[in-house]
Amino acid sequence: MSDSNQNLLLAFPTGALVISDRVNITSTLDRPLKFSLIIPTFNEGQNIKEIVTILSGLLDRIIPGEYELIVVDDNSPDLTWELACELIPTYPQLQVMRRTTERGLSTAVIRGWQAARGEVLGVIDADLQHPPEILLQLWGEIVKGAELSVASRNVEGGGVSEWSVVRRFLSRGAQMLGLAILPEVIGRLSDPMSGYFMVRRSAIANKTLSPVGYKILIEVAARGQIRWIAETGYVFRERVAGASKVTWKQYVEYIQHLVRLRFSLWPVTRFLRFGVVGFSGVFVDLGVFYLLRTLLGIGLTRSTILSSEVAILNNFLWNDVWTFGDMSRGQQGNRKRFRRFIKFNLICLSGLVINTLIVNVLFNAFHINEYIAKLIAIAVVTFWNFWFNLKLSWRVTDTEKDYSSKPKQ
Ligand code: GDD
Ligand code: MN
Repeated sequence: MSDSNQNLLLAFPTGALVISDRVNITSTLDRPLKFSLIIPTFNEGQNIKEIVTILSGLLDRIIPGEYELIVVDDNSPDLTWELACELIPTYPQLQVMRRTTERGLSTAVIRGWQAARGEVLGVIDADLQHPPEILLQLWGEIVKGAELSVASRNVEGGGVSEWSVVRRFLSRGAQMLGLAILPEVIGRLSDPMSGYFMVRRSAIANKTLSPVGYKILIEVAARGQIRWIAETGYVFRERVAGASKVTWKQYVEYIQHLVRLRFSLWPVTRFLRFGVVGFSGVFVDLGVFYLLRTLLGIGLTRSTILSSEVAILNNFLWNDVWTFGDMSRGQQGNRKRFRRFIKFNLICLSGLVINTLIVNVLFNAFHINEYIAKLIAIAVVTFWNFWFNLKLSWRVTDTEKDYSSKPKQ
């Protein structure tokens, strides 16, 4: 390869897979762009020229001079990257990244986005199986305000061309599995396996992405802050040139990916804090009960009710400043805090009812030891209280932020 081609290559980012919220500007001549489209390639030498030509033609019609195409090639043996470099004089908005130290589709896309200058980031396959014209509709949805605009095979106008029954079955099976493991993410996408989409930089900036394998869209939808998802139907075309890189390994990686996301999306830290606060409440309850009952000689029922209520107040305050502190800060004011306290109270009360029911059922109907029954009831009610308080008491109703996963700090 000539030295001039080598100089044209875009340096590949290293380190964490995080996209910055600011557009990546390296020289004074650079400027932010509206759109950066990544074309990941591995042995796509036969397709690269055609896809670049078509995409350039389309984008020149809608956002001339305000976009870039970035080919991210994993050092293909067929020298796709070199062929791509040769197109740069004709298509100056084209950039080429040749990765030599990493491999894999998802990370190729993220590395491309990290080097990108666009406010909107996109991805399309190089093999022309994704019809390029759909790009205009995808862009239209972004212009209307969508954070994520996905080309889908499973909405009106979408489909697959000549897939065997087995492949259709595997594809649907993978989607069902995704729904079971990660319903809140997969349930929002009619085609979670799509590799043809656009996302606003702001929606995924500063999130550490850690995809496994092929399915970058799932990663984006799971970790991004995305309210509006738009879908446009498309027909997945047959490959004319080159070969697919999909093997059984991608199915294994897909499952790994789902499981990893499941664990990182569950609010583990928050739940532990909630548990610690709950534990502190036990001592407050006992202490106040001792004060009222033994020291002041107040009646048993009144002492019990009062000490429980003080414990609930204690738990509320700690949860409000600590467990859900990041969420409370977005909803300041005494009135709002009081509302949260009332909801917290009601949920704890419902927990008490459930607790009593479980103990009774386990003991009377299943003859389980009273203390074991009580332990089971406490475990169930802790989850119940946690979940409903997270979703109802501290739920953010009037800000844009989505706090559902981990507390900040
Ligand atoms: N840089 C890089 N590194 N690119 C890769 C790699 C890799 O390791 N593996 C595949 N690609 C590129 C291919 O060159 C192609 O442009 C694109 O990624 C898709 O790869 P295919 O092998 O053609 O996948 P497919 O036809 O089965 O498509 C499926 O996966 C796509 C990507 O998620 C379908 O599910 C599509 O809907 C989906 O877009
Ligand atoms: Mn393909």
